[in-house]
Amino acid sequence: MGAGGSGRRGCGILSTGCGRPVTGAYYIALQDRRRADGRHGDIEMRRHLCFAILLAALAPMAFAAGAEEPHQGRHGIQNLEAWVEKFENPERNGWQFPGLVIDVLGIVSGDHVADLGAGTGYFSRFFAQELEGDGKVYAVDIEAPALEYLDNRKDVDHDVIETVLAQPDDPNLPDGEIDVVVVVNTWHHIEKRPRYLKKLRRALDPTTGRVAIIDWYKGELPMGPPPEHKLERGEVIAEFEAAGWNLSTESTGLPYQYFLIFRPRR
Ligand SMILES: C[S@@+](CC[C@H](N)C(=O)[O-])C[C@H]1O[C@@H](n2cnc3c(N)ncnc32)[C@H](O)[C@@H]1O
Repeated sequence: MGAGGSGRRGCGILSTGCGRPVTGAYYIALQDRRRADGRHGDIEMRRHLCFAILLAALAPMAFAAGAEEPHQGRHGIQNLEAWVEKFENPERNGWQFPGLVIDVLGIVSGDHVADLGAGTGYFSRFFAQELEGDGKVYAVDIEAPALEYLDNRKDVDHDVIETVLAQPDDPNLPDGEIDVVVVVNTWHHIEKRPRYLKKLRRALDPTTGRVAIIDWYKGELPMGPPPEHKLERGEVIAEFEAAGWNLSTESTGLPYQYFLIFRPRR
């Protein structure tokens, strides 16, 4: 897959360290008009008032239809082809830098890696390649069709990659085994994260275990979810620290995503 040619360069590691408020303007316009029109204006105004009330009643519905669904842990896989096109787009290597990610993670042959929220397995396949046949990649997701897609790929070492169907609140990983859990563009989907972190901690190898979060910087970007769905880097760090984890490594080498590695406090 050529991870080496896909951004293995300066890692930038830092040490640890229609619901618009129509009614207000509308009333002012009506009052101006009433003053100008006299009695006829009164009738006109009543007509317009009815219309304004109707608009006000319908506005929340229009807003709900036009808005994105509330971010409740998952988008749901409606169209596998669209997911493949998006997550497996070869241009992704130009900004996702899988080689850099692998370097910073420090994945070595023999490791057990969990790709949490693996989707179509973009990262799982790079990880598996790095393990060179020795080790395990658990490709974990709540969407069975995405995992089936990965299971059916012919260019995958299925002895190394094992797909795991998770529940939204449980990664279904084996206890005490995982060297690194990698969570790419997925942490913002997880609900009740402090509780979820306890489950991740249980899955980690007590000596080597760590969790890497790669997720979108807050604010407008040329890709990724809308700003309101994103989690601030600082919020992620604060949640981990409050749950008993330390930030052990940070890389600023990705243009659109923060990249944080945490270890549980002993
Ligand atoms: C934006 S995609 C990222 C896919 C993949 N990590 C990548 O970078 O190509 C988010 C993925 O997280 C999965 N997901 C959402 N909530 C999840 C949860 N609670 N547990 C595991 N996977 C979850 C979705 O099904 C989806 O595949």
